[in-house]
Amino acid sequence: MEIKYRYAVIATLCALLAACTKEGPDIITKPNGRDASPAELSAGSATVFMNSIRAYDTPAPWVTGALLDRFMHGDRLYDDPRTASQGDPLTGGLGPLYAGFSCGSCHNNAGRTYPSIFADGGSGRGFSAQLVYITRSNGKFFRQYGRVLHDQAIVGVKAEGKLHASFEEKEYAFHDGEKYALITPHYTISEWYADSIAPGDLIIDVHIPLRHVGMGQIMALDTDELRRLAAQSNYPEYGISGRLSIITERNRQYVGTGGNKAHHADLTVELGFSSDLGVTSDRFPLEVSEGQSQNIGYSHFGIQISTRDMEDVDLYMSALGVPARRNVNSEAVRRGEANFYRASCHLCHTPTLHTRQDAPVLLGGTRLPWLTGQTIHPYSDFLLHDMGAGLDNHVATGSAFSYEWRTTPLWGIGLQETVNGHTHFLHDGRARNLTEAIMWHDGEGAVSRELFARMSKSDRDALIAFLNSL
Ligand code: HEC
Ligand code: HEC
Repeated sequence: MEIKYRYAVIATLCALLAACTKEGPDIITKPNGRDASPAELSAGSATVFMNSIRAYDTPAPWVTGALLDRFMHGDRLYDDPRTASQGDPLTGGLGPLYAGFSCGSCHNNAGRTYPSIFADGGSGRGFSAQLVYITRSNGKFFRQYGRVLHDQAIVGVKAEGKLHASFEEKEYAFHDGEKYALITPHYTISEWYADSIAPGDLIIDVHIPLRHVGMGQIMALDTDELRRLAAQSNYPEYGISGRLSIITERNRQYVGTGGNKAHHADLTVELGFSSDLGVTSDRFPLEVSEGQSQNIGYSHFGIQISTRDMEDVDLYMSALGVPARRNVNSEAVRRGEANFYRASCHLCHTPTLHTRQDAPVLLGGTRLPWLTGQTIHPYSDFLLHDMGAGLDNHVATGSAFSYEWRTTPLWGIGLQETVNGHTHFLHDGRARNLTEAIMWHDGEGAVSRELFARMSKSDRDALIAFLNSL
């Protein structure tokens, strides 16, 4: 096994150098007294041994003292429901237009809230737990609406429109005859606040929230390693060729690693407050409704969250622990891991990466040296891949074409049901379980999908058991 071989090499090097103090060579003592094996350490010194509803929402072990105080403050700013009141910087400033009422309304327990497209058949009642992007068929934005449909509004204001989702189900069979079904979403929007938009001129693209597992590590990635991966990860025999996402923000070029299109190079705190919640900041001082024909006149309320407060939210997300793997020694999980390699999943869902040596810097300049020099197991190459026509959303984002998506990191995926109570996967949640998520892989993922589909049922089950151990 390539991965075990790598551990053996690391362990030997550490023993020789006796210098790998941060992570320990290959054995660390778990808080509960048992020894952890390297396979369990998802994110080096940021690994937490937690498999409850708090699994994504627990600080890394190095978060103590003043850092813990700021973490807790960031956690509250992230979770506490906001209202339209202007008095309290902790809980005010919502709207006039918004989608959710707090970061946590969409990222419940730092995870993936059950999407309203399934819970309510479209826009949610009171808040929506997904983002709806709208674009003209020529790729431009609607002047009256902007890029995101704000389908919620405070009292006295009209939401921009309301989303309706329906799903078409089709049945298929694996090579051994076992049946499975896939659902394809269809969306419409009604109750436009201004000009109605002809359905023929409208592209609706719905994204469900991402899990916040390992956000700090993702921002601390060694981007040279990703660059090398992109150069090497060319497997013509499997039709795979990952592409690094280069994005331009504030006149500088960055490697994009965040978001489903790898179109973000930071944790989007300012954007989230502004666009998702309607909370203004120094970076985005105008309400998203500013300049729209629905002249609301809310901008005189001024700045609703300070950069210092937003930095604490940045800190909170960056300093979250990553849950350790579970059941790594079970027979099915070991067999499933071998099957994961057999189906060439690892060619995109890269098991092992490293964080860089220079400390990541948060919004307000705080450095996080704990995130440097770590061996991590995100199960992603953070590259863009052509995933075929079925997942094509007909909109280019950042440097990604409409049919390209960032390989979703799989760490923590086995705990999503515990944390969020559902097993919807993929960028729009159309996969209702892990098997469906795999069977949607096409384009560069087609070979993997076929290798999985041709396995015996017990081998497929083992692969799923392995995913559930992540
Ligand atoms: C209305 C729902 C909603 C709200 C409210 C919301 N988000 Fe998100 N968030 C999403 C969705 C959907 C995505 C995935 C976008 C995509 O496809 O890339 C996302 C993605 C992210 C990501 C990228 C995650 C990754 O793995 O790369 C970060 C970071 C993030 N959100 C932070 C925040 C913060 C901070 C707030 C509060 C200020 C917030 N979000 C509020 C829906 C929401
Ligand atoms: C060509 C690269 C590639 C290969 C090979 C690949 N994947 Fe993926 N995988 C992706 C991308 C890109 C996405 C995101 C697609 C989307 O959201 O529309 C994804 C999404 C997923 C998801 C959903 C994650 C989530 O949280 O929503 C799972 C589960 C998954 N892959 C498992 C696998 C397994 C198991 C294999 C092997 C059988 C595999 N993948 C092979 C690129 C790949």
